[in-house]
Amino acid sequence: MKIKTALATALMGMSFMAASAMAVDLNMVSGATGGDLAFAQAKLADFAKDTGINVKLVPMPSSTTDQFGQYKLWLAAGNADIDIYQTDVIWAPQLADQLVDLTAAAKDVAKDHFPSIIESQTVNGKLVALPFFTDAPALYYRKDLLDKYKLTPPKTWDEMAKAAKTVMDGEKNADLQGFVFQGNAYEGLTCDALEWVKSNGGGQIVEPDGKISINNPKAAAALDRAKSWIGTISPKGVLAYQEEESRGVWQSGNSVFMRNWPYAFALGNKDDSKIKDKFDVVPLPSGGDGTTSAATLGGWNLAVSKYSKHQAEAIKAIMFLASAQTQKANALEQTHLPTIVSVYDDADVKAKQPVLVKWKDVFLAAVPRPSAPTKTKYNEVSNDFWTAVHDSLSGNGTSADNLKALEAKLTELKGDGWK
Ligand code: GLC
Repeated sequence: MKIKTALATALMGMSFMAASAMAVDLNMVSGATGGDLAFAQAKLADFAKDTGINVKLVPMPSSTTDQFGQYKLWLAAGNADIDIYQTDVIWAPQLADQLVDLTAAAKDVAKDHFPSIIESQTVNGKLVALPFFTDAPALYYRKDLLDKYKLTPPKTWDEMAKAAKTVMDGEKNADLQGFVFQGNAYEGLTCDALEWVKSNGGGQIVEPDGKISINNPKAAAALDRAKSWIGTISPKGVLAYQEEESRGVWQSGNSVFMRNWPYAFALGNKDDSKIKDKFDVVPLPSGGDGTTSAATLGGWNLAVSKYSKHQAEAIKAIMFLASAQTQKANALEQTHLPTIVSVYDDADVKAKQPVLVKWKDVFLAAVPRPSAPTKTKYNEVSNDFWTAVHDSLSGNGTSADNLKALEAKLTELKGDGWK
């Protein structure tokens, strides 16, 4: 008995030593939108208890454009302090060379994710990031206000503008806006404007085969339509809004409609929200005349830096964050869309967040930004596009002239082919 106890104590001591010898500290950078940081922090605390791997979160701005600029600099400098990057779906081709190949690590789980997402994170056969959650926007609308004016959720952009105006005129509340969206000059505007253009039959900026298609009358008409909202149903300040500013106005009860990603659904239904249980979502409107609604594909992934000194532990941590268990929690707590197909069939998810089941169809039909065809040039393409759109919305040149100039810029950027 004594011997056994002594042995057990010695073994415990050894395993304690093994655990403490294994303890490592990692840094992960992540944008701070909605409750994302608090969520990741809580889950990583559980992970640390189980593994001895402590992942410290380094909060970054919410804007994907600002994050991208910073990450490019760090990676170019071979920064070994950041082990894990949370990466936007559009970045894979641009950052591939500086990220670890996850193909072997993910060999048993890659098949559980939507194949299109795995494909979007695969560059020349290298899996550069594991999917964390996917994103596709919807039109948020105030059920109570539409009911009051006997309106139904709009199917076209013009119906949306008309409904917004009807409610605003009826309410006579100077704080009430009709429609808020992401109008700042950044990647978010590329997403919103791609939806206006595509849903008006104006193409996808650069088509999947690499052809530059943006200079066309339907695209210009879509931008003109969006311009007509500014200062009528949308505040002039929308030209500086990103996701969180739109959500701020919406969640304090001051907008009839909002274009936003799924995360705003869970937050809007929290106890401190003025619009709790007063809203719902429908697919974004179309341009009418036989066109169909378009939702830009978004989403976030997890990648390990090639310069990390703890790659094995970092891979363990991202496998945990990308797992079905964490994705389920992210779906339940934050209405983030899972990338693992089976999570949509989970009984808890179906019962507690039924909206995600509807949202899955929006995601499945979502339009990708042209990051695959424009390869390492995507960031410049997008920057040129959102600048042309922001100028058009601000009255700095006409939409038609701005798109013509954009076509010339993109043609020069493309040169003898996208690389
Ligand atoms: C969301 C999307 C991301 C997109 C960004 C634009 O975070 O998931 O893909 O680039 O919005 O603001």
